[in-house]
Order: sequence, then C-alpha cells, then structure tokens
Amino acid sequence: VEQLKERLFEIHSIAGRFYYDVLQSEEGADARSYIEGRKLQAAVSRKFGLGYAPERRNALMEHLKEKGYAINDMLQSGLVIENKDKNGYHDRFRGRLMFPIFDFQGRVVGFGGRIIGKGEPKYLNSPETILFSKSRNLYGLNFAKAERKKELILVEGYMDMISLYQGGFRNVVASLGTAFNQEHARTLKKFAEDIILLYDSDEAGTNAALRAIPVLCTNGFRVRVMQVPNGKDPDEFIKQNGALEFSKLLVNAVHYISFEIACIQKKYNLDNPEHRVRFATEAADILSKLDNAIERNVYAGEVCRMTGVEEAAIRSEIDKRVQKEE
Ligand code: GTP
Ligand code: MN
Ligand code: MN
Ligand code: MN
Ligand code: MN
Repeated sequence: VEQLKERLFEIHSIAGRFYYDVLQSEEGADARSYIEGRKLQAAVSRKFGLGYAPERRNALMEHLKEKGYAINDMLQSGLVIENKDKNGYHDRFRGRLMFPIFDFQGRVVGFGGRIIGKGEPKYLNSPETILFSKSRNLYGLNFAKAERKKELILVEGYMDMISLYQGGFRNVVASLGTAFNQEHARTLKKFAEDIILLYDSDEAGTNAALRAIPVLCTNGFRVRVMQVPNGKDPDEFIKQNGALEFSKLLVNAVHYISFEIACIQKKYNLDNPEHRVRFATEAADILSKLDNAIERNVYAGEVCRMTGVEEAAIRSEIDKRVQKEE
C-alpha cells in the first residue's frame, strides 16, 4: 500500500505538471483568457499551479502511459476512469481549468476542474482516493499555515481563497462546497484558535454558515462571521471593490451570536408585537446556549434594543432555559 501511495503521489505531480504545461500551450488559449477575465495575475495562477485539461479523450492517460504507469494505478488515482461500456478508459477531466488540491504539506492529492464555457457540472472534483478525502482536506491550508496566524478565514470556493490570497489575505482556507464537519475542525485545530466564517451571501452560503457554527464552537474555536454585501461571494467582492474595502468588512466581522440573531430576525417584522414576542423568544433560545453569563447579558441587551422588550423579561426567559439545561 505504501508503494501504491508513493506512485499515486507521483501520478498527481506528473498530472499537475501536464495540465500546467497544456495551459501555456496553444490548446490552453481559451483557458488563459478565462483566467485573465477573472483578473487572476499570472504569478498567482502559477503559485497555485493552475492548469488546463485538454478536450482530448486520453491526453493524460497517454502521457502517464509514456511515463510507464499501469492502468490500474491511473484508475486508483481517480484521474482516469473506465468508459461507460467498459471497452476502455479515458481522462476524468477534459476541457476544464484545473486547480490542484494540495495536502497540508503541499503535495498534490487531487484536482478540481472548472468548466470554462457552458455546461454541467460547474466544478468536477477528484473522487475519494487513498490520497484525498473531501471531509478532511481544506483547500489552501498548505499556504495558510505558513502564515502562522492564530486566526483563519474560512471560505467556500477555490476562487474565493485564491482571490483573497492575491489581495494580500493569506490566512484563508476553503471547504470547497462540502459541509464543514468534525474532521475539518480537528484539522484546523492544529493551526488556529479563531475562525472567521466567510461564506457566500446567498441563501445556500448563509445556511451553510449556520450549520458550521456549532461544529466550530464544539471544537473550541472562537467564531466570528462576516458576509460581503449584495448576495456576492468574496472573490466577486474583492475584485469589484479592492483589498481596502475588504479589510473594512473584515474588522467588522461579528460574534457568531450576533449573526444567528440577525438571521432569525429576518423571519420577523419587528413592528408587529406578536412577531416581537416570537423573535425575542427564539433569541432567548439561542442566548441560553452561551456558557458565559457576561456574553449572555451583552447579547440580551442587543435583543432588547431591537425589540424594545425590557431586559429583565428577556433575562428571565434566558435564565429559565439555562436552568433547564443544568
Ligand atoms: P466560481 O463560479 O468559479 O466563482 O465558483 P464558486 O466557488 O463561487 O462556486 P459556488 O459558490 O457555487 O461553490 C463553492 C464551491 O463549491 C466551489 O468552489 C466548488 O468547490 C464547489 N462546487 C460548486 N459547484 C460545484 C459542482 O457543480 N460540483 C461540485 N462537486 N462542487 C461544486
Ligand atoms: Mn453552486
Ligand atoms: Mn456558493
Ligand atoms: Mn465565485
Ligand atoms: Mn461562490
């Protein structure tokens, strides 16, 4: 198994080089203009090892064959797959902009491929292999850990991570669209104490952030949340508004409790007394989960200001719930 693993590392490194070279060649012209259109600097594209998988059906497969690799190793790497009618094999990635996925030591363990024209799926990723586990890997950790910051910014996508890096924010990792889970948290725990959750500002991103919060909290992280305005993602925001505007948002990241309260508030119309009751009651549920009595008090104050409910009333509802839990 160890020898197979070694060969799979080799295959990934060769494939990364292959896609990278194709990107610089004639076949990579469209992909190069795509990269330019997304305002990625050449040096950054190089740093992240971006490449292009040609349209040809067996391009990588033939290249690996020339290097002496057996078809079984290629299949194990996930980069070559069997034809539907089982009469041969072909490359998994074709006609896509290629993002090498690194492990925390910087070795290529998989790829994400983005379509550059129309079509589905938008991103195709390597399957689970002996080198690559989606639920453990965090994209960019090999770069972020070198910064030795105790604070990490957690984003959704490849391009979010890379764009922030280009903008000078280098303590960033991406969960690549998979739900943030316990294994991710344990991985990050070795490198960080504080997490700034920065998922897309659409409904999917907001819901994913709400689900990531308890995972981060139970693993002992201090958690703050930020979102860029107007339903955009961090990549779009920083390209449109620049690094300075982004850093202004960053310093205004809020405690996760404020974020949760703001999220439930959107369900209610606070001009309506009945809604005020339901909102304040739901907020009391959230606040009662805080261990720290001072924190409970500070954020209870926020709910009072939002609803006009007296602090004593909210505090007594919170205390009821805290006592029930004990
Ligand atoms: P861009 O359009 O290139 O900016 O992508 P994005 O990162 O903004 O995409 P989105 O917010 O939709 O998704 C976030 C992340 O989820 C992506 O970076 C991918 O890692 C992953 N993802 C998105 N679409 C797909 C898909 O169709 N299939 C899979 N497997 N993953 C996806
Ligand atoms: Mn999507
Ligand atoms: Mn998204
Ligand atoms: Mn995007
Ligand atoms: Mn996005």
